[in-house]
Amino acid sequence: MPALVDTHTHVQMRQFAADRAAVIRAALADGVTRMVVPGVDVSTSRDALALAREWPGHVFAAAGTHPHDAATLTDEALVELRALAHEPEVVAVGEIGLDYYRDLSPRGVQREAIVRQFALAREVDRPVILHNRESHADMITLLKAHAQGLRGVFHCFIGDRQMAREALDLGFYLSFAGPVTYPKNTELADVAAWAPLDRILVETDAPYLAPQPFRGKRNEPRHVALTARHIAGLRGIPFEELARATSRNAATLFHLPDAPAAFDSAE
Ligand code: NI
Repeated sequence: MPALVDTHTHVQMRQFAADRAAVIRAALADGVTRMVVPGVDVSTSRDALALAREWPGHVFAAAGTHPHDAATLTDEALVELRALAHEPEVVAVGEIGLDYYRDLSPRGVQREAIVRQFALAREVDRPVILHNRESHADMITLLKAHAQGLRGVFHCFIGDRQMAREALDLGFYLSFAGPVTYPKNTELADVAAWAPLDRILVETDAPYLAPQPFRGKRNEPRHVALTARHIAGLRGIPFEELARATSRNAATLFHLPDAPAAFDSAE
């Protein structure tokens, strides 16, 4: 089975406290040989880096402040994130973004936090991982004004072809998570079938958003194969082709090295 990259998985979080190593080992054994673990604040970014150091070549970190936590992005926090983002195991700035659905931070604070982190990404020469919920117009405006030349991905893309087109036109990748497998999301399925093969990624967003048939349960990195298989079906191409393309895209965007050749699942 060809290897997959779970480009967005929060295995550093407390939901995996009891069985984190087993979850990672199960993913590797199932062919999910590389994963990118984004932070949502300084502490979870630090934990992501520690995990990357425990699993060299398999786990990579991203450092950033999520829009829910935007108010925590003080000057001191930004100094800490900058130090983390310079580390070789940290392959992106993220996750960062806007969330006007839950509005857990004031929108002005969210916008200020994302703009400061665009500058950080530019400074450390890393791509950005974007969280974007009910905030598409502002996201596109901010990207055009403040993110010229930055590379990145719309993580857990939700939207129609028009929204996808705007992201693609700015040079961004689209990453699909479990919701693309939910039967009612026909518009999203249409985007996953239509988007250029060289611009799509797959992810779990574990522990959230498990794909069918695990919807509602704790998600984990090995389930990215279900999402990848579903998208291959939507596109009418072999799973192997989808896996190869999305892994190549992830390696290109995040500058990931090849996974270490011999992973012994019995270790
Ligand atoms: Ni996330």
